[in-house]
Amino acid sequence: MASHVQEDEITMSSEELLQAQLELYHHCFVYIKSMALGAATELRIADAIHLRGGATTLSDLAADTGIHRTKVSHLQRLMRVLTTSGVFSVDVQASGATVYKLTRVSGLLVGVGGERPRRCDLSPIVSVLVNPVPVTALFSIREWFTDGKSAASSLFEVAHGCTRWEMIAKDAGDDRVFNAGLDADSRFSMEIILREYSGVFGSVRSSLVDVGGAHGTVAAAIAKAFPHIKCTVLDLPVVVAGAPADDNLTFIAGDMFEYIPPADTVLLKWILHDWADEDCVKILRQCKKAIPTRDAGGKVIVMDMVVGTAGSQETVSKETEVLFDVFMMYIDGTQREEHQWSKIFYEAGFSDYRITPMTGIRSIIEVYP
Ligand SMILES: C[S@@+](CC[C@H](N)C(=O)[O-])C[C@H]1O[C@@H](n2cnc3c(N)ncnc32)[C@H](O)[C@@H]1O
Repeated sequence: MASHVQEDEITMSSEELLQAQLELYHHCFVYIKSMALGAATELRIADAIHLRGGATTLSDLAADTGIHRTKVSHLQRLMRVLTTSGVFSVDVQASGATVYKLTRVSGLLVGVGGERPRRCDLSPIVSVLVNPVPVTALFSIREWFTDGKSAASSLFEVAHGCTRWEMIAKDAGDDRVFNAGLDADSRFSMEIILREYSGVFGSVRSSLVDVGGAHGTVAAAIAKAFPHIKCTVLDLPVVVAGAPADDNLTFIAGDMFEYIPPADTVLLKWILHDWADEDCVKILRQCKKAIPTRDAGGKVIVMDMVVGTAGSQETVSKETEVLFDVFMMYIDGTQREEHQWSKIFYEAGFSDYRITPMTGIRSIIEVYP
């Protein structure tokens, strides 16, 4: 029988205390999972496995990814984290050789073979999400919570001395990584959205403006699937300057807080989660000015997370929602529950909305004037 330890009002057996200690240490080390994923992504480990026909030994993996011979055992330890977390799988063969394989998760990190860029290669967005630029800011959260001087600034501004968008404007490398990540996410998501939820766009009468549409990946997919829709992309000047030419799209450099060009439909994909409520209301008011009445076909399409929708009782969904919400704190953004969405829609003067939940991290919200 385990002995009991009395500590303040908590009574736990030694076994329970040791289990609690284990869980506490587990929480301390969770970031190692994303660090390992980031390293595997940069090393193109998924490509190396794919190019070996879907299975590879440790020594071949080390050779194919340029690992120094003194670090092969370290690679094995990194792979042990990634196989334990299900990013890759591992078999130990009768010969004793360790063989690594892709799983459905690391299948999304393969960037070689077939069409280029591969539609399903999400490694560029992984490089954005586990990038030291946001992560450094997030590690200052304790100071930010308690320091009155930084109350008016975002975590990002405190850590880097400029806003996220200013850094993209002045650092070409950061701009490249960020926009490649968004392109990858958009390519992947739009393929599925246009296949499964095409009615959302099919009902657009004749024009759409993708606000904060970056390099136009989303708008290009819509224009291709629905040639009757004239698509425009509005983004900041530096982003528009880097966008590839596309005869089907019109790019406009501007500021969504000041002006949104008129269209039947305004699209906001991954925009409102970047901003606090007051800013979202300002953006949505500009959207409302840009579209006609509901009877004349006006609507705003928001593609963003709705915290607590279908599937979010499952642990991975639930954790992803709350983790992504705190991640967005780095620029003072937020992931919203339905009641928080409805509050900003009504405050901006809209009269109705409809949420179409999707499996995964986003929903489609159609918002009506
Ligand atoms: C998270 S990204 C989303 C990009 C794209 N919609 C997507 O989902 O791939 C946010 C975008 O908003 C743009 N943005 C930020 N501030 C803006 C402003 N004031 N006016 C227009 N675009 C802005 C950024 O340049 C960036 O392209």
